[in-house]
Amino acid sequence: MSENFTTTQSGAPVASDAHSLTVGADGVTALHDRYLVEKLASFNRERVPERNPHAKGGGAFGELVITEDVSKYTCAAVFQPGAKSETLARFSSVAGEQGSPDTWRDVRGFALRFYSTEGNYDIVGNNTPVFFIRDGLKFPDFIHSQKRMGASGLRNADMQWDFWTHSPESAHQVTYLMGDRGLPTTWREMNGYGSHTYQWINAEGERFWVQYHFMSRQGVKNMSNEEAEKLAGSDADHYRRDLFENIEEGNFPTWDVKVQIMPYEEGKTYRFNPFDITKTWSHKDYPLIPVGHFTLNRNPQNFFAEIEQAAFSPSNMVPGTDISPDKMLMARVFSYPDAQRNRIGTNYNQLPVNQPHAATVKTYMHEGAMQYHFNDAEARVYTPNSFGGPAAAPERAVEGGWESDGELVRSAATLRSEDDDFGQPGTLYREVYSAESKARFHATLLGQCQGISIESIREGFFQYWSNVDANLGQLLRDNYAASVAGATDGGLENASSLV
Ligand code: HEM
Repeated sequence: MSENFTTTQSGAPVASDAHSLTVGADGVTALHDRYLVEKLASFNRERVPERNPHAKGGGAFGELVITEDVSKYTCAAVFQPGAKSETLARFSSVAGEQGSPDTWRDVRGFALRFYSTEGNYDIVGNNTPVFFIRDGLKFPDFIHSQKRMGASGLRNADMQWDFWTHSPESAHQVTYLMGDRGLPTTWREMNGYGSHTYQWINAEGERFWVQYHFMSRQGVKNMSNEEAEKLAGSDADHYRRDLFENIEEGNFPTWDVKVQIMPYEEGKTYRFNPFDITKTWSHKDYPLIPVGHFTLNRNPQNFFAEIEQAAFSPSNMVPGTDISPDKMLMARVFSYPDAQRNRIGTNYNQLPVNQPHAATVKTYMHEGAMQYHFNDAEARVYTPNSFGGPAAAPERAVEGGWESDGELVRSAATLRSEDDDFGQPGTLYREVYSAESKARFHATLLGQCQGISIESIREGFFQYWSNVDANLGQLLRDNYAASVAGATDGGLENASSLV
């Protein structure tokens, strides 16, 4: 008798892997075939809702190693010299659904979790240092504009550009997105950024503002529109496959961890608002400081359990780190755990991938759907108590903070001396993009413009890019006019040759 036999979920041997219970070989199926019912019911519940946004992604485990001494800026155990922490990374696209092609032009998610001795520290960033908007209230509108139309269920250039051109703060991120970084060759060959300004606190309680940079040792490499389009058709899982196969083959990708540090007081007067995620800090003002590196060296054993059910959140902070007065970041701290309670379930933090691996949970929160861990029978479920239960230790928590006063208002943040929406994207276009990058950027934007069907939105498009750079706006206008004329008289100029 075989010892390797199939069982029901409650452990009893099943009678068949292939045949349901029927009245005679050719008759109706019996509803009391409890194994058939259980198997189909389980199948019907295999999916959890996909992430909204960042549904399509992949990830792997590895290790963070701290090689430098940044203890004068933070007392977080995870960043102390010599510290090693198990790491989980998940890379993703923003707008596409689970099955969408990896190589659609998009910003890429770059979510990191460090399983530290003081709890899990998540840095949930992207492959660009800025973002499209600066107030969380606009986030659902932004994502709606990138997803699908209500009636047709199709993505739509009018909708995307309508939102962007009416949200001038998006210009910096859109300049990145339509540039070379909108199409990384692989996840291994892109940098990551925390994008927001975060806070570090040292052992003396001194506070600093910090920006995270994760620089790929594989280099930053990007692909052309043509390559991306081809791959979208031939291998929709190109990025996912590349990461998995490289790790299987022992070709482990590594990123250097660097930070920009701004002394706390300078945050009040810096020429760009450091709490505005549409802005970067000049590297001349705040040079990159090395911290360490992380390497991804272990594929998940089970994609669903360890990657799909991974619940990254900017609210997962550890002592010696904190958020900043960035309005987006404050909204995110609420939004992620809320999304995950809905997407995975109340006790999602008890799943192996989400529970701390190097720290112990001691909490008075309990019960709810799918509770797995529970306290000793004698443990009290309330605090304060007389039975030696855990008590908060403020000296361990090392929280940050900032001064805040004023009337409650709904208002944009006060502008700093050099704050505007178009200055930094203009510099990125003029001074950072090479002639070749500019040519590809122009071609991509012409393609985008051709996808717009509503005249007023196209006019907004030209105005938006004229605000970034007057010559750029005019060039796009001329290229578009030429393409329309070319389309009607048959002599279309090759857009990709325009610089
Ligand atoms: C207020 C603004 C934002 C809101 C409300 C928001 C909300 C969300 C939500 C609900 C998810 C799905 C979470 C899940 O189901 O597990 C998500 C995923 C994600 N978001 Fe955001 N987001 C915001 C801004 C940002 C910004 C600024 C960045 C990057 C700098 C970012 C990066 C990501 C990444 C990388 C993921 C995927 C995480 C993973 O791999 O599991 N988001 N966001």
